[in-house]
Amino acid sequence: MSEKDVQLEARLEEQDTFEPSEEFVEQANVSDAGIYDEFEENWPGCWERAAELLDWYEGYDEVLNDEDAPFYEWFVDGRLNASYNCVDRHLDERADEVAIEWVGEPVDEKRTYTYEELHEEVNEFAAALRDIGVEEDDVVTMYMPMIPELPIAMLACARIGAPHSVVFAGFSADALATRMESADSEFLVTCDGYYRRGDPLDHASKASEGVDDVDHDVTSVFVDRLGADGDISSTQYGYSELVDEHEGETVEPVERDAEDMLFLMYTSGTTGTPKGVKHTTGGYLSYAAWTSHAVLDIKPDDTYWCSADIGWITGHSYIVYGPLALGTTTVMYEGTPDYPDKDRLWEIVEEYGVDQLYTAPTAIRAFMKWGSEYPEAHDLSSLRLLGTVGEPINPRAWKWYYKNIGNENCPVVDTWWQTETGGMMVTTLPGVGDMKPGSAGPPLPGVSANVVDEEGDEVEAGDAGYLAVDKPWPGMLRTLYRNDERFINEYWDEYSNPDADEWVYFPEDGAKIDDDGYITVLGRVDDVINVSGHRLGTMEVESAIVGVEGIAEAAVVGAEHELKGEAVYAYAIIEDGYVADDELRERAIEGVEEAIGPIARPEEVIFTDELPKTRSGKIMRRLLEDISNEESLGDTSTLRNPDVVNDIQSKVD
Ligand code: WT7
Repeated sequence: MSEKDVQLEARLEEQDTFEPSEEFVEQANVSDAGIYDEFEENWPGCWERAAELLDWYEGYDEVLNDEDAPFYEWFVDGRLNASYNCVDRHLDERADEVAIEWVGEPVDEKRTYTYEELHEEVNEFAAALRDIGVEEDDVVTMYMPMIPELPIAMLACARIGAPHSVVFAGFSADALATRMESADSEFLVTCDGYYRRGDPLDHASKASEGVDDVDHDVTSVFVDRLGADGDISSTQYGYSELVDEHEGETVEPVERDAEDMLFLMYTSGTTGTPKGVKHTTGGYLSYAAWTSHAVLDIKPDDTYWCSADIGWITGHSYIVYGPLALGTTTVMYEGTPDYPDKDRLWEIVEEYGVDQLYTAPTAIRAFMKWGSEYPEAHDLSSLRLLGTVGEPINPRAWKWYYKNIGNENCPVVDTWWQTETGGMMVTTLPGVGDMKPGSAGPPLPGVSANVVDEEGDEVEAGDAGYLAVDKPWPGMLRTLYRNDERFINEYWDEYSNPDADEWVYFPEDGAKIDDDGYITVLGRVDDVINVSGHRLGTMEVESAIVGVEGIAEAAVVGAEHELKGEAVYAYAIIEDGYVADDELRERAIEGVEEAIGPIARPEEVIFTDELPKTRSGKIMRRLLEDISNEESLGDTSTLRNPDVVNDIQSKVD
């Protein structure tokens, strides 16, 4: 490093507040700090600002109906269609502009869809879906990797008023079946396979296996992604044949009520079964569009790239719905960041002249580890804004991103939100506020998030507590699919006072707040592990392990991991007559992969004779967490079996 670099490094290390550049502020969609007061004074009317970003067939009568809280309704009686808003309405002015730039994993495999072409594809597939029997309100499941047919199918569903439920392609056949059962979904759109690090990966057999496990009949459509590298000959419907049959057809977008379901998205919680988070057409879409406008600073002429997978909420809101509602160009990449080499992302940024990049701390930590020579080899000067989401980002990684990717020229937005919130909740506005590495920032204008103690009272600046949101927002989940009771129990039980009709949403995250009202999110406080920004329920993993022959009991916790943020550590007790060997360990890991998918793969499986339990018989996970992190253990006096701790500790070291 040169003397100059060393000085720069030292300055960056000490600096804890960063201002957006004047140049950025001047062109920003939102640059007036008055927006916070403006939204507060005019709440909930302020949310019209979000709804105004959309086209409505019929205007709403009321912004918010809170009569039946926490079953809130937004933009009451408004009517709209999400596919119309993301596609058709851009045709007048932007028919020949690019909607989707798709970059395949194989170098040089790419596809470009203009808004006109996207319109054509969406219409033809919408016609095809109707043809195979999909009706308004039928839930269509998609089990697809990052190929263009995924957003096309989502928009086709939205067009005909059929909610979609996208299941991450990395999930297992079992996970697919559970979600299809839970949603009573009779239709599936999937594909033969996709490429991973140069090799074709079979997806069709996993999909078929999942369908076989569903109790009701399923009609499936298979996209031919791999050509000669895959096989869809024995499947029910081929995507391209279906679309060819409907060539040139158009389907009138169905007028949907603002509160009609746009999609379901399953996510992990404390208890066993995944939760079907329900999002609506008016509130969700307005919120995705508004936050894309205000936080990601998206303009129609931008080329915007979010490197998440559409199988998660980030991809729904910020690859598909938000950017397309704003008529911009959204980039979609099929592969991994290190194939064929560790500069693949930077090559894409350079080639497409990407303006905004939205990625995850786990990726940033990997870039950091690989070294700055990879981004340095490319011209990244097109970048104007950087974003991060999914887990807390440590100041070192934030600064590395700011310096090495953003050239100290791009604001970094650290956006806290969840599957349930539909869109961003806590982050700086890039054209307004200073940034503090490690802290997401203040709640967005109109969002009322606080940090509270066990009683629900706001904590003093500097103290740790829990995040709580005491006003509703348009992008919020409306319920858990067909389970209103669980919706209340999971999110509204902790701090609400139903007798006084006071409702407080509890995200189950720990947090701190500083004197300027900046919130630092500390992580989950429930039994959910965050692996590479993906949520995993410990109970789900435990039940997969216990399902393995020879294993009697299991406890799963998250342990700090350099790249993944957290990794899965599994502690298991074997049944009499079995041997705690590598074979059993391997079977435990396979059991998890089969039940959930490779993302849930335990980093360590530790066999033990006993698990640390309280006198009432509850497993003390905190203790296991401390052991996994090799931290000193707190009070163990409440344990029924204190000896077990030393024994387990000796196995982890
Ligand atoms: C959980 C939600 C939101 C899309 C991706 C994950 C954690 C998310 C941040 C952030 C600290 C964060 C929280 C949250 N999280 N963003 N910027 N800083 N933590 O969606 O799977 O629903 O997970 O991710 O713990 O509760 P999700």
